[in-house]
Amino acid sequence: MKIAVVGSGYVGLVTGVCLADFGHDVICIDKDQAKIAALETGVVPIYEPGLSDLVNANVAAGRLSFTTDLPSAVRDADVAFIAVGTPSRRGDGHADLSYVYAVAREVAAAVSGFTVVVTKSTVPVGTGDEVAHIIRTVNPAADVAVVSNPEFLREGAAIEDFKRPDRIVVGIDDERAREVMTEVYRPLYLNQAPLLFTDRRTSELIKYAANAFLAMKITFINEVADLCEAAGANVQEVARGIGLDNRIGSKFLHAGPGYGGSCFPKDTTALVKIGQDFGSPMRLVETTVSINDQRKRAMSRKVIAACGGDVRGKTIGVLGLTFKPNTDDMREAPSLDIIRGLQDRGAKVVAFDPQGMEAARHMMENVTFAESAYEVGEGADALVLVTEWNEFRSLDLDRLKSVMKTPAFVDLRNVYRPHEMRRHGFTYVSIGRSDLDPGERISDAAE
Ligand SMILES: NC(=O)c1ccc[n+]([C@@H]2O[C@H](COP(=O)([O-])OP(=O)(O)OC[C@H]3O[C@@H](n4cnc5c(N)ncnc54)[C@H](O)[C@@H]3O)[C@@H](O)[C@H]2O)c1
Repeated sequence: MKIAVVGSGYVGLVTGVCLADFGHDVICIDKDQAKIAALETGVVPIYEPGLSDLVNANVAAGRLSFTTDLPSAVRDADVAFIAVGTPSRRGDGHADLSYVYAVAREVAAAVSGFTVVVTKSTVPVGTGDEVAHIIRTVNPAADVAVVSNPEFLREGAAIEDFKRPDRIVVGIDDERAREVMTEVYRPLYLNQAPLLFTDRRTSELIKYAANAFLAMKITFINEVADLCEAAGANVQEVARGIGLDNRIGSKFLHAGPGYGGSCFPKDTTALVKIGQDFGSPMRLVETTVSINDQRKRAMSRKVIAACGGDVRGKTIGVLGLTFKPNTDDMREAPSLDIIRGLQDRGAKVVAFDPQGMEAARHMMENVTFAESAYEVGEGADALVLVTEWNEFRSLDLDRLKSVMKTPAFVDLRNVYRPHEMRRHGFTYVSIGRSDLDPGERISDAAE
């Protein structure tokens, strides 16, 4: 099949390269000339494990190319994916659909012959209807079927997720699109990935419901973590104790500094707005959004408390800036709020992230960027582990302690064990765990 993918960001690029890898003839489009120029010279402008190799292999095989020329790419396509951003609209939190609608207008003017236009961007219920309306208005002669096909990949594991999805959701209201979409995803279908056909509105809502549910799950365990701290319990064991129940499941039960990233914050806020628009409020999601917003800032207070209640003039080292490991994506990362909160109270911040510093430089001020975790530690009054990159999981604790001014360690991802940190001479604070390990608590109780 000939496939055009409009928008070559995290989702568009991964979609394009994976579909090319399935054997389709794919052209990825972006209006960002620098991005396309980089891709044309084999440079992938985002960090996503395995993406660069897969792009280069498919370009070499002649199945993948790049352009800024949307009309010529879409003219020849059987399928045109829309994979542009749908950020929060400034001021009100609705999904900003201006990029999607702009592409719909351009696609409408360019299509020839029967074309399936697939919205892969995360969009509110009813957006597909509006895209179809725009296309009919711009080009009444266009023969198109507008399909919803939300994407569920996770940054950091995007290729694996795209190639081995739990399910593929396709929302159609034109039967001709069913055959085309089955063909697009045939390799996955043969691998037993369930292809769930539904109507367009249901498909649009599935994406928001999925993200909101996961965000609620994270927020739930974060609140349980606070309760554990207050009550002297251990959130990791609570998470294991409930996660082994198949009805609950163990994923997304890791307490931390609050969810961030390019999807959960904007999608939960958008779902709240969608609910309000339909007069059917999503109150659990409203509460989730509010708890999570407060939590990120509360994490800076946790650090300040670990420093004896005052960080003025102190140097705080931050390990990890991106919203999760294995990405360079800094959108809505908890580190942004935590660092701002520390700076507001007079702290100097030194930070290191294996991939995120380039993006972070444009998003934070007065931060000194270091080259390694140990450089961050030099002269620091405290260290805060914000993102659980693998290289922060096995730090040389003696070396770290020897370069720090005060050996205080705030572990917002529960990477280390309290007794191990104490043994190395650190004052250690984590999330939802008392200072004692389970074994220690049991022997305490026995005494
Ligand atoms: N990032 C994720 O993990 C993820 C996962 C699932 C779904 N989504 C959804 O996918 C969509 C895209 O997200 P993303 O993270 O890939 O965004 P992104 O910002 O990384 O990429 C969007 C790209 O679209 C390009 N673009 C914008 N307008 C254009 C136009 N008129 N013509 C051509 N190109 C244009 C931009 O230049 C940019 O390169 C969003 O709706 C998002 O919610 C994202």
